[in-house]
Amino acid sequence: MQLCFATNNAHKLKELRQMVAPGIELLSLKDIGCTDEISETGSTLEENALQKANYIKNKFGINCFADDTGLEVESLEGAPGVYSARYAGEPANSEKNVKLLLQQLDGKKDRTAQFRTVIALLTGNNESPHFFEGIVKGEITEYQNGDGGFGYDPVFIPKGFHRTFAEMSPEEKNRISHRGLAVEKLIQFLSKLT
Ligand code: IMP
Repeated sequence: MQLCFATNNAHKLKELRQMVAPGIELLSLKDIGCTDEISETGSTLEENALQKANYIKNKFGINCFADDTGLEVESLEGAPGVYSARYAGEPANSEKNVKLLLQQLDGKKDRTAQFRTVIALLTGNNESPHFFEGIVKGEITEYQNGDGGFGYDPVFIPKGFHRTFAEMSPEEKNRISHRGLAVEKLIQFLSKLT
């Protein structure tokens, strides 16, 4: 079964390719010849994921899924949340985002946070979308640690661990990550279809 993952993020594709079953051929946007900048103008992760999946399904007529992830920090009332990618403004810049986050949390005792991923899957004709959610709870560190992963990984320690996501191997992160959990649910669902 061919399935497009509506992303241009090479890190995410690499992570996902390590997880999907051999019966599923995971195509990137590049693989299907899509070079468009797909907008994400929703005010929730669900809206953004569906917006991206709808765009591909309508334009290319291929089964597809899209994800959207936000880092939700308790003492910042859920910020940066759906605005995680551009927290420090345009153009998106992970280094600036992380610096701003550490600044916003300076002096705050409560550093609890969670990564939340929502995947929207569109299969078949006129079928309603299916949503899959993955959450990993943890804490924001005071300093950056590790150089693996991407985005906010150097400042996020998942609950029950003493290392940031950036200090873990991709396999270790995939096993416990928000995206890993959402993808597991997606894969379970797909295995019933194939
Ligand atoms: P996206 O919508 O999934 O592309 O993610 C939005 C923002 O969250 C991006 O700026 C990413 O840097 C960040 N992000 C998404 N997934 C992860 C992750 O696994 N680790 C760290 N940051 C992430």
